Amino acid sequence: MKPIPELLSEMTLEEKASLLSGDDVWHTKAVERLGIPRVMVSDGPHGLRKEEDVPGQPGVRETIKAVCFPTACSSTASFDRDAVRRMGEALGEECQHEGVAVNLGPAINIKRSPLCGRNFEYMTEDPFLAGEMAVSLVQGIQSRDVGTSVKHFACNSQEHRRMSSDSTVDERTLREIYLPAYEAAAKRGKAWTFMCSYNRLNGEYASQNKRLLTELLRDEWGYEGLVMSDWGAVSDRVKGVPAGLDLEMPSSHGVNDAEIVRAVREGRLSEKDVDRCAERVLRLVERFTATARPDTPWDLDAHHALAAELAADCMVLLKNEGGLLPFAPGEKVAVIGEFAEKPRFQGGGSSHINCHQVTSLMDALEGMPGVTYAQGYRIDSDEADEALAAEALAAAKAADKALLVIGLPERDESEGFDRKHLRLPANQNALVEAVSRVNPNVAVLLYNGAPVEMPWVNCIRGLVEGYLAGQAVGLANKAVLWGEVNPSGRLPESFPLRLEDTPCSLSYGGEGDRAVYSEGVFVGYRYYTAKKQPVLFPFGAGGSYTTFAYSNLRLNHTEMDDTDTLRVEVDVTNTGSRPGKEVVQLYVAPHESRVFRPVRELKGFEKLSLAPGETKTAVFTLDKRAFAYWSVETHGWFVETGVFGIEICRSAEEVILSTPVTVRGTVPAPLTVTEDTIVEDLARYPAKFALLKKAVAALKNPDGAEAEAIGDNDVLDMDRYAPLRTLIAFGERMDHQRLGELIDAMNRV
Ligand code: GLC
Repeated sequence: MKPIPELLSEMTLEEKASLLSGDDVWHTKAVERLGIPRVMVSDGPHGLRKEEDVPGQPGVRETIKAVCFPTACSSTASFDRDAVRRMGEALGEECQHEGVAVNLGPAINIKRSPLCGRNFEYMTEDPFLAGEMAVSLVQGIQSRDVGTSVKHFACNSQEHRRMSSDSTVDERTLREIYLPAYEAAAKRGKAWTFMCSYNRLNGEYASQNKRLLTELLRDEWGYEGLVMSDWGAVSDRVKGVPAGLDLEMPSSHGVNDAEIVRAVREGRLSEKDVDRCAERVLRLVERFTATARPDTPWDLDAHHALAAELAADCMVLLKNEGGLLPFAPGEKVAVIGEFAEKPRFQGGGSSHINCHQVTSLMDALEGMPGVTYAQGYRIDSDEADEALAAEALAAAKAADKALLVIGLPERDESEGFDRKHLRLPANQNALVEAVSRVNPNVAVLLYNGAPVEMPWVNCIRGLVEGYLAGQAVGLANKAVLWGEVNPSGRLPESFPLRLEDTPCSLSYGGEGDRAVYSEGVFVGYRYYTAKKQPVLFPFGAGGSYTTFAYSNLRLNHTEMDDTDTLRVEVDVTNTGSRPGKEVVQLYVAPHESRVFRPVRELKGFEKLSLAPGETKTAVFTLDKRAFAYWSVETHGWFVETGVFGIEICRSAEEVILSTPVTVRGTVPAPLTVTEDTIVEDLARYPAKFALLKKAVAALKNPDGAEAEAIGDNDVLDMDRYAPLRTLIAFGERMDHQRLGELIDAMNRV
């Protein structure tokens, strides 16, 4: 390709406008006259869903055979940046092999409610965890010179009416919960592209939301990549151009290209805005074509094995009474549930992969002595099948232990719709309870993309959250359940006891197209810990076949300015007899605040692999953002001077070690004093408050004698909530003019 400025100078308006929309469902447009090729994009996020024409069948397309890696609900549960990065590297190689320029992922919308049908494809309820995993996946994929498309930007946290719904989110909630992961992907991930969401955000479609796509993403975060629309997300294409939407997908068959040309010709749209979008499309095309390596090998079997390895580290051990797990090879175990033969390992919709291979648990257990199988229930029905149930009970009675493999069927969760409840199919719930009545040694393995209610949780001794762990799921399940691999996953979301306990249970889905995020920053564990609302399993929960001890939590500061960085170290020892991996979780807990803040927020995690008896040190570095909240007064990150708990936790609810640090906020929130400013607010600004004390002292000593100094509390105790205008109650000695002079003096210090 010629240099981009040269190409732009040679292109007609029509040619430039044509670049601003797709050629078809999956390609950018070429400009043959100037030798500009088109490039292909494909889903994502956890496998390559590349569509191709079916030879000999015009118009018929199918997706190629590919590898389905653990979906995001599963891979995020690894709490392992390196594992996610390795998955990204493999995905990048697949894209190179197939000539795909951009993997349409990661999908990082925050899990506002467990009801969201697409939660399987999203990462977590926590913005810090989402950001870390997004950066890891982006860097992994892009390390192979293939782009990513961070989606869906922003606040697409429901499927219900997703193409018209207006996510109404206050400024602080946006900044603290729904934007940080995108900020990380832009600033640290350097994602080649972003994908704007379908929904409106605070009244404006994301695809034409200048505040979002330009003022925030580019002007504030310095993002230099391309923004494409979600498929069919464009409302007013002409408005989207200056807003920062570079590429409409899929093709609008020239209709919107013509709209752009007409708008420029009629003076409603600047050609410079068109040029800027066209330039970003050209840069994407140039970037990929310069590094395309179609000869990149793709060993699907090797990727299958990698998917199995990764999935094993994502599984979350939630219960293991009396060491029921792992099963001993040869032990008599009745495996019950059709999912053990026909596993659910991915979700429905645009991320659905045409797998070249699937390994079920029963495939993986082939030849394992002592194992029996009973179907137990039918995946395609919620109704109990008496014969299947009876067969399962018989199998359970005849075995030492029983493993029930259950989960959500495809019909219960998918892109395109939200769930209405958190229940598993009735036939499965009934079967767990029936089996636990005939065999006391029951373990449950779950295949689900989002939290479910577990009415039988107290009837069983073992529980593993398997999530939707990709096509090699059976290999991973066998490795963990039969003890080859020590489980090390942690829940990246809270599992509530019931739907009514969830933070947005009264408002989720919205009324018509108004989806008000009225729970504010209190999403997930931020809500449950603040409310002291019991949950089934907390964010960050997960166990191991070994045990770990924590000691020697130490900080390099006990007092600091918010401009300093805090180094946190803690020692972790494997006190058991098996090698294992521990996820060390660091939370910051403000002891007090002027604003409503969560009890604690995740600000660090490290996964340590430890041999029996081995001790390692987890090290964290915290900067200002770890202590700050978003101030709607200063419209920036603000650290309030105070004491913060540095907490090392096993979950959002279990603090193991904690130590305080005092942080001094060096940037006071600006205060413009007026007659209505109250005394208590002034007291936070010593120089201003000193002027008030002096004025009050003078008012109290009318004869002008040197007013004895009065203390802060002399003023505060008068009435800390009194506005300055009440000073006029001092009669002739204070009037609006004198008060105005005092206020001017306060605003100068
Ligand atoms: C879908 C999804 C998006 C996907 C795109 C292309 O509607 O929302 O995530 O990348 O269309 O399939």
